[in-house]
Amino acid sequence: MYKIVITRKLPEKALASLKKKYCIDMWESEERAAPREWLQEKIKGADAVLSMLSDRLDEELLEGANRLQVIANLAVGYDNIDIPFANKSGIRVCNTPDVLTETTADLTFALLMASARRIGEAAQFVKEGNWKSWSPLLLAGGDIFGKTIGIFGMGSIGEAVARRAKGFNMKILYHNRSRRTQAEQELNAVYTDFDGLLADSDFVVCLAPLTEETEGAFGAEAFQKMKATSYFINAARGPIVDERTLYNALINGEIAGAGLDVFENEPIGAEHPLLSLKNVLALPHIGSSSIQTRYSMMDLCTENIDAVLSGREPVTEVK
Ligand code: DGY
Repeated sequence: MYKIVITRKLPEKALASLKKKYCIDMWESEERAAPREWLQEKIKGADAVLSMLSDRLDEELLEGANRLQVIANLAVGYDNIDIPFANKSGIRVCNTPDVLTETTADLTFALLMASARRIGEAAQFVKEGNWKSWSPLLLAGGDIFGKTIGIFGMGSIGEAVARRAKGFNMKILYHNRSRRTQAEQELNAVYTDFDGLLADSDFVVCLAPLTEETEGAFGAEAFQKMKATSYFINAARGPIVDERTLYNALINGEIAGAGLDVFENEPIGAEHPLLSLKNVLALPHIGSSSIQTRYSMMDLCTENIDAVLSGREPVTEVK
């Protein structure tokens, strides 16, 4: 019987179909990540791994995986996996695109709106009993309607965010490796170079995958080019941003605020300097976290694993 290693405790109903056919070896906790040593040991006898984006499946770990046929990563991003090494070793790698597009776009736009309108700060203000009277400029924030959004990384999530922005009558700029003609025609999205995106946007929204090209793209120079009234939103991957320079940009008033769902090191520690700033809204990497979407992602992972182990083509293989 083929063995499937699962690196986080998943709900019974998500695994029902796999359990009928395969032997499942699952890490026991829902909240705590499986330690690397656990996975290093388990992967030796695994035919399939259902991994989380927080597991680092690098060459050192995959070297010991003599039987491994498929990795199904519960995320659209796969920067946690050494793809060239997996390819060389004949391991198929699958991710979960499409099913999470709209949910992640919802969260990204919510982060944009909440940052501009200071919703995190305002909610805390009320709960802490600080609201003594209505006043004209109490927690006044920035407008969204009619402003300019600049999307860095115009993939399907970027386009879904652009659709939401259109509903807010926003001007849409984007920067991407290739032109997106459909978005240009349907959403009036305008392609611009990186510097133009930074200079002209009221909201710079990072939705690019983490690659050698994008790592550290948002450093000191980038923040200096942004408007002092603008907001930086990141719902992609933390290492695309140099967090120290983001902190400096925020305390020096180079930008107005930041909404962050992802961090260089996750989970971010409560003592991190960025979390001491009022104009930073930080979330625990919940872009795709609606119940329905997380179940769809799990289903896609189990479908991909079953396909490969049954000798069929997986549905969503990383090419
Ligand atoms: C992904 O799937 O890569 C997202 O970051 C999840 O929120």
